[in-house]
Amino acid sequence: MSSNNINKENSPPHRTIKSFVLRQGRLTKAQQSALNDHWQAYGIDYSEQVLSIDKLFKNNNEIILEIGFGNGESLLQQATNQPQYNFIGIEVHSPGVGHLIHHACRQGVHNIKVIRHDAVEVLKHQIADSSIKQVQLFFPDPWHKKKHHKRRIIKPDFIQLIHRKLKPGGLFHMATDWQDYADYMLEQMDNAEGFINTSGTGNFSADRASRCETKFERRGLKLGHQVWDLIYQKR
Ligand SMILES: C[S@@+](CC[C@H](N)C(=O)[O-])C[C@H]1O[C@@H](n2cnc3c(N)ncnc32)[C@H](O)[C@@H]1O
Repeated sequence: MSSNNINKENSPPHRTIKSFVLRQGRLTKAQQSALNDHWQAYGIDYSEQVLSIDKLFKNNNEIILEIGFGNGESLLQQATNQPQYNFIGIEVHSPGVGHLIHHACRQGVHNIKVIRHDAVEVLKHQIADSSIKQVQLFFPDPWHKKKHHKRRIIKPDFIQLIHRKLKPGGLFHMATDWQDYADYMLEQMDNAEGFINTSGTGNFSADRASRCETKFERRGLKLGHQVWDLIYQKR
C-alpha cells in the first residue's frame, strides 16, 4: 500500500469550515450552577432528531430563533418583552449559555430554551422545516481578514437553510457593525431565491425598535462603529 493511501485512510473525515472557534472560556460559579441545576428546565440536548417544538413549551406560541446569542442578555430582554412568543437560542460558548440560563432562572422567564451546539447542524437536523416565525442573527463574528471570510456564517447554503426553516411570511433579521460584512449580506440576501427585502432591494432597514441592544453592539458603538440592520421576508 502506498503511503498516500495510508494517509487517506487514516485522515479524519472531511471537516466543514465552522463559523466559530471554541474558546474554553472559564465559567463563573453562577454559570456552572445554572448549567448543572437548570439545564433540564432551559436546555435542549443536541441530537439529529427533529424536535417536536409543541412538546417543549407548554403552549403553541410561535417561535423566534436566535443564532449566536453571546451572553444572551438581549435575547432574555426580548423574551421578557414579548411573552406572546417562544424563543430558542443557539450558542456554542458555554459561559454565554450559563449566563443566559442563570438570569432567565433568576427572573422567572420561561418562554426561552437554549441549545449549546453549532447552529448550522441544529438547523439542518433538529429544527423542522417551515416551523419558525423569525430567525435572528445579531452581530455574527465578522471574520474581517480576507483569508477568514470563508468562516462567515452568511453564505448561499446557509441562507437557503434559513429559508427552509422559516414559515411562509417569516422574517430573517440580521445586524452587524462591520460595513464590509453588511454590504456582503445585503448583496447575498438581495440575490437569494425566495426572500424579499422588507426595505426594498439595495436598502438596509431602519427598524431598530424590534430589536434590543446587544453586548457586541454596545461595544461597537463605543468604538464609534455604525450599525446596519437587514430584514428579509420569506415569500
Ligand atoms: C460576535 S458574537 C455576538 C454575540 C451576540 N449576538 C451579541 O451581539 O452580543 C458572535 C457569537 O456567535 C456565536 N456563534 C458563531 N457561530 C456559531 C454557530 N455556528 N452556532 C452557534 N453559535 C455561533 C459565537 O460563539 C459568539 O458568541
